[in-house]
Amino acid sequence: MDTVLITGTTSGIGKAFAEKFANAGNNIILVSRNEVKLQQQQIDLQSRYHVSVQYISCDLAEDNAPDMIMEKIGNMGLSVDILINNAGFNEAGYFIDTSLEKELDMIQVHIKILTALTKLVLPGMIERRHGRILNVGSTGSYMPCPCDAVYAATKSYVLSFSNGLYQELKGTGITVTCLCPGATNTLFADKADINDTLLFKLFVMQPEVVAAIGYKNLLKGKRVVTAGLYNKLLVLSTKLLPISIINPIAQWMVKSVKFPLDKSSPDTQIPY
Ligand SMILES: NC(=O)c1ccc[n+]([C@@H]2O[C@H](COP(=O)([O-])OP(=O)(O)OC[C@H]3O[C@@H](n4cnc5c(N)ncnc54)[C@H](OP(=O)(O)O)[C@@H]3O)[C@@H](O)[C@H]2O)c1
Repeated sequence: MDTVLITGTTSGIGKAFAEKFANAGNNIILVSRNEVKLQQQQIDLQSRYHVSVQYISCDLAEDNAPDMIMEKIGNMGLSVDILINNAGFNEAGYFIDTSLEKELDMIQVHIKILTALTKLVLPGMIERRHGRILNVGSTGSYMPCPCDAVYAATKSYVLSFSNGLYQELKGTGITVTCLCPGATNTLFADKADINDTLLFKLFVMQPEVVAAIGYKNLLKGKRVVTAGLYNKLLVLSTKLLPISIINPIAQWMVKSVKFPLDKSSPDTQIPY
């Protein structure tokens, strides 16, 4: 029985991961901001699966979040065997129009916190020669995404970081897996107001299916896994086609995102 630390568990893919690991008899540490939901989730998982479930309510956009999380886990007398870096969100739109504050928080949650948590759990894993890490990337990890440029850039980091670390840790008993989902039916698209885009109309997977794919490949110690055949084909196309073709296709997928300035108006000064 392992202790599994999962970030972003109150909905979507993280919630499905918590369910999956609890069902398999593991002890769970849930991390998200919404304390009421975390409490309900704790009671629900404990009563259904008879495993120990702890939660840490915390905003991962805060600098001190990783130290605070590790201190609380230490106080619980626990050590992390499996880390699932899942928490994340999107801020889509033309870069000139999007919220810088949200984008900086996104960089913080997707890059800084994911890196720091990994750094903090690794020494214990190496000492015990036992541990698994799963980082949630995206199909956007493979390509630049116009109208979602910061998001895709953060997810490229997740993929690159995971790949590098996977190789470094070979032979230590610790594996790193990067799970790359495509459009998934969670609160993610609603929160970013991209539900009406082609991306979320063409092919959308259920979070339970995505988490099951991640779970299976994490246990196998796989380096990278893209969720679903359609997304695998999409990723393949990014390797075969030049950026001059990929870029407009990626923009077309989110084409309901409105440009903040009317390009057709002669008075409009397009700043780039
Ligand atoms: N859904 C998709 O189409 C899709 C596609 C590719 C990749 N992904 C990736 O999958 C991961 C999970 O997203 P999802 O689709 O399951 O979205 P979701 O349903 O919105 O869930 C996101 C989770 O992250 C938590 N979270 C967000 N910001 C946080 C913060 N600052 N501090 C602590 N917790 C935070 C949320 O909890 P609280 O709000 O309670 O804090 C929630 O539990 C993300 O990394 C996302 O980028 C999603």
